Amino acid sequence: MEKRKQIYEGKAKKVYETDDPDLFIQEFKDDATAFDAKKRGTIQQKGVVNNKISNILFNMLESKGIKTHFVKQLDERNMLIKKVEIVPLEVTIRNIVAGGMAKLLALEEGITLGEPVFEYHYKKDSLHDPLINDYHARALKLANQEELEFIEKTSFIINDLLKSFFDKKGLILVDFKLEFGRYKGKILLADEISPDTCRLWDKETRKKLDKDRFRRDLGGIEDAYQEVLRRVTG
Ligand code: TMP
Ligand code: ASP
Repeated sequence: MEKRKQIYEGKAKKVYETDDPDLFIQEFKDDATAFDAKKRGTIQQKGVVNNKISNILFNMLESKGIKTHFVKQLDERNMLIKKVEIVPLEVTIRNIVAGGMAKLLALEEGITLGEPVFEYHYKKDSLHDPLINDYHARALKLANQEELEFIEKTSFIINDLLKSFFDKKGLILVDFKLEFGRYKGKILLADEISPDTCRLWDKETRKKLDKDRFRRDLGGIEDAYQEVLRRVTG
């Protein structure tokens, strides 16, 4: 499958048309941004690593019955995907307090939550992806009730599957972000699942092995991504 016209360039990926009207190719870049792209940088080999990790995680989820946009990995940086229409919601599930939740509610990072916290953020950079609820999502016609119910139910199942997968690899799934898309009347899991979109801590040392090393200038970012890749393939 070959790339045709580029139809979109995001902060971490480019999307291309293909000869098949139902399929796109997404290309993973090394570009990294944080805080609405106020902070910019490059994480060497990030695109290659995130493509591989996403490939493994989409395959794992598909094997457990989760429908995703993933078709196959084409090469180091390119993934063949179904041509979904992205639902403009960023879904976050949190198992441990960190990042945005720690800041919003003045909580200490690292507190294990009694139950996972599910959030919708409106996917709109100019508004800084604000936290919204299902009433906002319906009122703004971002998704209908049936879609929201499906997205919520599926996200909790994905949390359980990812948590136990990462646990076996010695990693704690602190929180993560998902995006969904519409494809032929169905909702599919879309985008990517990688250390860009998950907080992953080492189970023993609680060392951060994700994009927080870039956001917070902790150093060792390339090594952290390679370590996650080693663990998930091992
Ligand atoms: P947050 O604590 O900053 O809200 O982030 C929650 C999770 O979502 C975290 O695992 C990182 C991920 N995330 C993204 O994938 N994209 C984003 O733009 C942001 C802000 C967070
Ligand atoms: N990717 C997002 C941005 O550039 C934020 C993040 O992941 O922290 O704003």
